[in-house]
Amino acid sequence: LDNGLASTPPMGWNDWNAFGCGVDEQLVEQTADAMVSSGMRDAGYRYVNIDDCWALPNRDAAGELVPDPAKFPHGIAALADHVHARGLKLGIYQDAGVHTCSKGGGFSGSLGHERQDAMRFAAWHVDYIKYDDCNVPADGQNVDSSIARYVAMRDALAEATAATGQTIVFSVCEKGDYGVPNSAWPGIGNLWRTTYDIHDNYGRMVWILHQNVALADLAGPNRWNDPDMLEVGNGGMTDVEYRSHFALWAEMAAPLIAGTDLRTMSPATREILTNRDLIAVDQDPLGAQGRPVTDGADGHWALSKPLADGSRAVTLFNETDAPATISTTAAQLGLAPSVDYQLRDLWTHTTTESAGTITDTLPAHGSASYRVTPSRWPSVGTPPHVAVGLTG
Ligand code: DGJ
Repeated sequence: LDNGLASTPPMGWNDWNAFGCGVDEQLVEQTADAMVSSGMRDAGYRYVNIDDCWALPNRDAAGELVPDPAKFPHGIAALADHVHARGLKLGIYQDAGVHTCSKGGGFSGSLGHERQDAMRFAAWHVDYIKYDDCNVPADGQNVDSSIARYVAMRDALAEATAATGQTIVFSVCEKGDYGVPNSAWPGIGNLWRTTYDIHDNYGRMVWILHQNVALADLAGPNRWNDPDMLEVGNGGMTDVEYRSHFALWAEMAAPLIAGTDLRTMSPATREILTNRDLIAVDQDPLGAQGRPVTDGADGHWALSKPLADGSRAVTLFNETDAPATISTTAAQLGLAPSVDYQLRDLWTHTTTESAGTITDTLPAHGSASYRVTPSRWPSVGTPPHVAVGLTG
C-alpha cells in the first residue's frame, strides 16, 4: 500500500503467540517498558501490538467499539500515551467480518462500521491495525469478497488519516488465498499474511517458509509478504531452530513481530531478536525478498537477498534431520565477478575473505547467514602487453 508507512518491514511485538486471549493493559505497558530496557527498541522494534480479545463483545449505544474495562481500565488512548512516551507505537487488532476470530463468539467486527472504527482508532492515536477476516457473512467466503472488505477499511483509514493526521499501518490477515500470488494485496495492505497461523514448532515454521518463499515477486517497500509473527523464545523449538527461523524471516524481508514474553525472555532469545546484522538484512532499503538459489527440494537451501549496496545476504539452511554440508558460490548468488569477496558472518559478526565459494556443515535444522560483498574487481580488459610494457 503506497502510503509511505512501511518503507521497510514493520518491526515490533504482538501478544497473540505467547498469550492468546490473555492481553491486558499491564502486559502491554510492561512489554513497552521491556522493549526499551532489553535494547529491542534500539535494535529497531517499534510497534507494540494488541491482538484479539481487547474489546467488550458488543458495541455501545452509539455503535462504538468499547475496550473491556476489566482488561484496559484506562482505555486505549491512555495506553497509546504510555507507549508513545517510550518512543514506540501502538497497534491494535480488529476484524473485517461480523465477529473476531476468537472462540466463544468473538468480539464485534467492523463490517458496516469501517469508517466509524477507523475514526475511533485514529482518535485513540493507534498507529497500526492488524485486520482479520473471520466470521464473515455466509455469502462471503471467497477472495473477492475478502478484498472488498479490506478495501473498505483501507479507504476508511485513509479518510481517518486525512481528517486527523493520524497515520495507520494496515496489516492484512486475509484468509482467502494463502500461498497464491495475488497481485491485489500490494495495493491494499502494507503487509498481508501469506499462510495460516504459525505454531511454535519446527515443522510448522518450515511449512510456512515453503509457501512464503515462493511469493517474492509481490514484496517491496510498503508492501510485504507476512509469513506470520515470530515464535522465537516460546519454548517449542531449540535455539538452533529459532536462529534459523529468525534468519529465514530476515532473508525473506518479513515483518519482524516478536511473539514472546519480552519481560522474561532468556539472554539467548534476546540475542536472536536483537541480532543487528540480520535486522539490517531484513530492513535493507532495497526491500527485495530473498529467493532460493537452489530449489530446496532436498532440504538443503541457499537463499540470496540482494542488498542496496550491491552485496547479497545469503542464508544456508539445512531443513533435514541429519547434518549436511551446503555450498553455494558468489556467481550463484548473483554477485558480480571479483577476485575475492568479504564474507561477514551475521551470527559471529566477523569478516573473512573468500574466493567465492561459501560452504558450511550445518547441524539438523541449522543455518548460517552471511553478507557477501565483492572486495576487489578483476582487471578484466587489461591487455597483457600493457603490463609487459610497464615492466619493460
Ligand atoms: C487469526 C490470526 O491469524 C491470528 O494471528 C490471531 O490474530 C487470531 N486470529 C486472533 O483471533
